Amino acid sequence: MSQKRSSFSGKLGFVLAAAGSAVGLGNIWRFPYLAAKYGGGIFLLVYLILAVTFGFALMTGEIALGRKTGKSAIEAFGALNKKYTFIGVLASVVPIIILPYYSVIGGWVAKYLTVFVSGGATAAADDSYFTNFIAQPFEPLGWFLLFIGLTALVVLFGVEKGVEKVSKIMMPILVVLTICIAIYSMCMPGAMEGVVYYFKPDFSKFSATTVLAAMGQLFYSMSLAMGIMITYGSYMKKDVSINSSVSQIEIFDTGIAFLAGLMVIPAVFSFSGGDETALGKGPGLMFITLPKVFNSIPGVMGTIIGAAFFLLVLFAALTSSISLMETVVSIVRDKLGWGRKLTCIVVAIGSILLGIPSSLGFGVWSHININGNTFLDMFDIFSNSILMPIVAFLTCIFIGYVIKPQTLIDEVECDGKAFKRKGLFNVMIKYVAPICIVLILISSILDVTGIAKI
Ligand code: PHE
Repeated sequence: MSQKRSSFSGKLGFVLAAAGSAVGLGNIWRFPYLAAKYGGGIFLLVYLILAVTFGFALMTGEIALGRKTGKSAIEAFGALNKKYTFIGVLASVVPIIILPYYSVIGGWVAKYLTVFVSGGATAAADDSYFTNFIAQPFEPLGWFLLFIGLTALVVLFGVEKGVEKVSKIMMPILVVLTICIAIYSMCMPGAMEGVVYYFKPDFSKFSATTVLAAMGQLFYSMSLAMGIMITYGSYMKKDVSINSSVSQIEIFDTGIAFLAGLMVIPAVFSFSGGDETALGKGPGLMFITLPKVFNSIPGVMGTIIGAAFFLLVLFAALTSSISLMETVVSIVRDKLGWGRKLTCIVVAIGSILLGIPSSLGFGVWSHININGNTFLDMFDIFSNSILMPIVAFLTCIFIGYVIKPQTLIDEVECDGKAFKRKGLFNVMIKYVAPICIVLILISSILDVTGIAKI
């Protein structure tokens, strides 16, 4: 290929862009909910241990694979061993599926931001506001188009001038907003009960499923097994340390997830008078419960906190969707050799077409579903519960037994510094991670098929 590969300007740009991908909707609604469900402090502890072992090994592997080959997922595996090109093809399917529906949800977030900014907190706090909104045919589609248009605009500007620049602006704002809202939330009346609930380890809730749930969350939260870290690694300069970058991305991602818990749980406790079931799960928490909490805050503060919250969620969602689109664009360009502009336009149009069923699935197309799962749910289940564990498993086998961990250890050490945790990397990639991933896959399949619920 004649075109020169783009790159991040340096370590900060790389770390912030990768952290921008990792910090997303998963950190803000899924992590607090899971932590509350699986025993508070004990879940936090398990999550932390997994992040520095399992998460560290998989993320290092993907980034090193990308940097070594200088290719996106679709070519990276084949570049090292032709027979395994299929893993790259499978990995490339994941972001193609996720980008459209993730952008539909991103559109909802953008809508809620404007509702709060324009003083509509009371309307948004109504029980049926959210379900009525997503059931409409045109308005959610419009927000989806806006969200994907914004994403495409950033990707159009390229790696350094688009992705990196936007991450450098949005990520610091996101951190400041999260800290401010968490502090406010902890000061609400009755909030301390929520803080205690969040931190206090409840050993009775600890079981193998705690570990499994933490692992599944970690995977998703660190944007693993979707080709993103391979692509970002391919844009990384050789003199930037993979080792310390991975540590920083992990601290960023886990730190924001942890703070999100401090932001969401005390506020919901304060509002519900200590009723933990109000934490609910998934979209309900973010689009139904939290607007009620914000609306209950007296005076103009409710509007301010609500608007700040949705702004931060919007930034988190945008930097994640940018990483998804950049990954898809990079895959198409590696494969077809097209220019960035043309690829961006084609990918945006393709994603819009694929996203339409997800957007309409809550209204005019709600009759098309499997066991009550709408289009959006089905894309989500297929990519997160089935495809991602398969890709992660194959990636471990590829690194552990085909190219051998040493190949990537050499890549990590090419900046002249020793790879301190290489023993851990080796053991994780070859033995622990593949076994754990198979367990995640089995439990997901049992869960999806309704045989057993974890
Ligand atoms: N890591 C993201 C999160 O925690 C998940 C994600 C990233 C999803 C990128 C899609 C694309 O929400």
